[in-house]
Amino acid sequence: MRKKFIGGNWKMNKTVVEAQTLARRLADRLSDVGFADIAIFPPFVDLYPVNIILREKESKIILGAQNMHPEPNGAYTAEISADMVLSTGAKMVVLGHSERRHIFLETDSYINRKVKKALDSGLLPLLCIGELLDERNAGKTEQVLSKQLNGSLKDVKLNSADDIIIAYEPVWAIGTGVTATPEQAQEAHKFVRKVISEMFGEDIAKNLRIIYGGSVKPANAKELLSQLDIDGAFVGGASLDADSFESIIRDSDISI
Ligand code: PGA
Repeated sequence: MRKKFIGGNWKMNKTVVEAQTLARRLADRLSDVGFADIAIFPPFVDLYPVNIILREKESKIILGAQNMHPEPNGAYTAEISADMVLSTGAKMVVLGHSERRHIFLETDSYINRKVKKALDSGLLPLLCIGELLDERNAGKTEQVLSKQLNGSLKDVKLNSADDIIIAYEPVWAIGTGVTATPEQAQEAHKFVRKVISEMFGEDIAKNLRIIYGGSVKPANAKELLSQLDIDGAFVGGASLDADSFESIIRDSDISI
């Protein structure tokens, strides 16, 4: 049984005070949740202040960064290293988000360096992959996903399925209000699991969590999260509000 994982990607939203307020609210409301792992990914400047709140509240919410640089330190103005992320109390890092790939032109080989650095440093990577609308319409979804997985995870050693989480996020569904249908998402997740099995073996593929992202909201969460190969959600817009994020998290409880 794979435990559900729900992540909130705050993107470039929330000042320090706003981030602490939202973190406090989430910690208070979600203290009873044991059926899913919950993580939040605030902007870099909010990580340490949010960690203070989560520690104060003795919250189980996992803290993560939205990105990092593959080098350990040096002359990389405005970049943040794995050790710097860890020093804020964060335990996870998002790598290869579609906004990093498409707006900041990050390539699979660059993301691959980051994945290796994160694993070496003891950060849990949340690796994002997903096709553009043109690629889907041209019937190239599987080709794109396979290329991104093989490129981003090239020569990566996984000791267990818990070493990484993969987010399938069709680019055409991110921030657009258009969600993949549960069937489209399930089909893509099943394919991702197959590629992971070819790369890392069946045991890892069976236990590795593959979560869905792209306009997840309270109205569609339950149906998406009940699909066989969908092990959670990566939520952007709807994670900025405690009510909607909580509702999505409670919808991941498959025992009810
Ligand atoms: P969205 O973002 O939920 O606002 O579509 C998802 C993501 O980019 O991770």
